[in-house]
Amino acid sequence: MRDTIRFLHQGRVIEIGDAGPTETVLDYLRLRRGLTGTKEGCGEGDCGACTVALGRLVNGRLVYSAVNSCILFLGQIDGTELVTVEDLVQDERLHPVQEAMVAHHGSQCGFCTPGFVMSLFTLYHAEGVAASRRTVTDWLAGNLCRCTGYRPIVDAAMDACFDAAQDAFSARASETVARLQGLDDGLDVMSGADDRFFAAPATLDALARLYAAHPEATLVGGGTDVGLWVTKQLRDLPKIIWTGRVADFEGVEEAAAGVLMGARATFADTHDAMRRIDPDLGEIWRRIGSRQVRASGTVCGNIANGSPIGDSPPALIALGATLELRLGSQARTLPLENYFLDYGKQDRAAGEFVTGLYVPRLDPNHAFRAYKISKRFDQDISAVLCAVRLTLADGTVTDARVAFGGMAATPKRAAKTELALVGARPDAPSTWAAALKALLDDFDPLTDMRASADYRREVARALLAKALVEIGGTPDERTRVSGARHQERSAAGADEAGASHAA
Ligand code: FAD
Ligand code: FES
Ligand code: FES
Repeated sequence: MRDTIRFLHQGRVIEIGDAGPTETVLDYLRLRRGLTGTKEGCGEGDCGACTVALGRLVNGRLVYSAVNSCILFLGQIDGTELVTVEDLVQDERLHPVQEAMVAHHGSQCGFCTPGFVMSLFTLYHAEGVAASRRTVTDWLAGNLCRCTGYRPIVDAAMDACFDAAQDAFSARASETVARLQGLDDGLDVMSGADDRFFAAPATLDALARLYAAHPEATLVGGGTDVGLWVTKQLRDLPKIIWTGRVADFEGVEEAAAGVLMGARATFADTHDAMRRIDPDLGEIWRRIGSRQVRASGTVCGNIANGSPIGDSPPALIALGATLELRLGSQARTLPLENYFLDYGKQDRAAGEFVTGLYVPRLDPNHAFRAYKISKRFDQDISAVLCAVRLTLADGTVTDARVAFGGMAATPKRAAKTELALVGARPDAPSTWAAALKALLDDFDPLTDMRASADYRREVARALLAKALVEIGGTPDERTRVSGARHQERSAAGADEAGASHAA
């Protein structure tokens, strides 16, 4: 057992024994260390002003990811290398991405600039990504600038980020790898007292024991939801149990029949595996939050929070995914759709937690489509998400799984629509009428700040019709203005798993 948080910063191992359970990395930097280069804008993961980079070992290689320090608890950087904007200047020379920002006039008031620079730093260290403006805009979708305009910033990125990394960080990469390996002691972390702590168990059994002893504690995966409970709702969360050190939760196993992911697998970790199941699934993953959010946010956290507008649940329900849970020593598995009971209510007992998720692959006779509708294209939660998996025999639907987010109190299958689809031919619009009509009976959506009930109804019908048109054979160049399936299939340019630094 260790009672401190340890990480690497500016070439030193920092060891902290008095971190508050929900002290953020941003507050640590600005308030404790006086490192005010990292800015606070929104305090909720939206603007990227607080972006810092974390170096982690992935299969023995050093990978730098951009994260939002405003919603990241200090304990969550245990075992990583922390890099902030202050660390980039070496021997009084700006870092190449900073030089490019200057050369291309990528900054005016400068408030957003440290965040942009840190996102660009991670792109500078990425490997195997296509040198394209599409790559850059995907990389920067979580950074907002209110005065410069994005063109000069994208130009700076194009200029600086696509040659082999040659900076102080690449020069000492082997040393950093060795030091990070040294930090990986495999011990449970318990920092604080019995009534107020940040805990990071290292094994599944240790987590099960700790959570059974403190069922009122808050579990944290990436903290991209829980962080906002602290920064926006000002909630006091005295007991935090972070799942990010549980060794058994690591990994994404791709087998012939499906993909198994542990509870700590993030959207970035799982993006490629999901894209290989279907291009639309890859595109849904790519549009979850921003790169910073996907680097921290876990898929199981997206499910566990029970939100009716989480993006992954409807898509995973349509695919027939199953959820794995554990309570003490008892493990159980259930179809994902059965986990969501009602608004704010899930099939999870006190002390029970999610251990992983299994996503089956599509069979050759399956056709799958998924679409996200949100007010902004990137970095926005859905108003409606539609996912459809049809089983076809001789061009006729023999089985249908149709799931929606944003249409009810939970992510939900459209039972009447599914019944009406069986027997229809996607290439014969005359056979769809019953299904499009049934959809109106399946849901009674709400009006809220994201969309009106009428809009949701109309868009849901339009998305179902679009899925049928496409499955019926109409090329998606005619039905989409973005998210073309062939583009996502060969999307090396947006490759998150390729974002690694050779060490
Ligand atoms: P956490 O915040 O760690 O936890 C979320 C909930 O799950 C908490 O109730 C927690 O106690 C519980 N939990 C975590 N792990 C477990 C476990 N193993 N067992 C049981 N319970 C557990 N979501 C979308 O769907 N689409 C978006 O486009 C999107 N955009 C976002 C943009 C921003 C700027 C932000 C801040 C968030 C966004 N989100 C979005 C929401 C969030 O990122 C996702 O819901 C994310 O998947 C949550 O995962 P996490 O690991 O960060 O969860
Ligand atoms: Fe806006 Fe952190 S301050 S994302
Ligand atoms: Fe002012 Fe970007 S330079 S917000």
